[in-house]
Amino acid sequence: MRKMLIAGNWKMNLDREHATQLTSSILESSGDSGPDIVLCPPYLLIPPVLEIVRDSRIQVGAQNLFWEKKGAYTGEISASMILNAGCTHVIIGHSERRQIFGETDISVQRKTAAALEAGLIPIVCVGETLEEREEGRTEIVIERQISGGLERIPQEILGDIIIAYEPVWAIGTGQTATPETAQEVHKQIRSWLKDTYSKSLAEDVRILYGGSVKGENAAELFGQDDIDGGLVGGASLDAEGFAQIIAAAR
Ligand code: 13P
Repeated sequence: MRKMLIAGNWKMNLDREHATQLTSSILESSGDSGPDIVLCPPYLLIPPVLEIVRDSRIQVGAQNLFWEKKGAYTGEISASMILNAGCTHVIIGHSERRQIFGETDISVQRKTAAALEAGLIPIVCVGETLEEREEGRTEIVIERQISGGLERIPQEILGDIIIAYEPVWAIGTGQTATPETAQEVHKQIRSWLKDTYSKSLAEDVRILYGGSVKGENAAELFGQDDIDGGLVGGASLDAEGFAQIIAAAR
């Protein structure tokens, strides 16, 4: 059985004071059992957040990395630096990085490989734009992103990899995918994993849904067979809203 996971992607939000308040509230309401919880703050807020969740079941992730190990790469952060800071996870290939910073399936592949080699769990994001969906290209786009992003990565090191399906048209728009629409793509991703690797890998990999997840729609989404939790943006910045989402995944 796959354990549910709720990840909060804070994006470029919050200062130190608000981040510590939010983390303390989440820690307080999270209890001793329930889904796995991963908080992904901006890099500079990782240390204070980790300080608060130390010895708890809440884990911390970064929102990006650069694939080289070290060197003259001004402004970049390596997988080992993220691991060394105390993180367990890293988000890779978010649609904002693809659209605003020109990330491609090739850079996603390099970053995913670097994360796995360092011992970080990558949360690899895929998702179609509205135009691609309207043109009936969702399936092709998702398959291209997944196969490109995981290309040549040996199955033995794929380990705990997590995939997040985040339709671009649902991110920050309040327009959540219906549970059926999301389930259809999640199922497609799982069958691709089965055909490409193995039945057991396909059954183990967690596939999160992201895109306007809220307390009100979380339970229905998480009730779908192939949806194993959520990657939450806006609603993860609100302690109460995030607690509702966590409760929906119990
Ligand atoms: P929203 O939950 O704000 O739509 O953002 C989703 C997202 O991009 C998570 O990575």
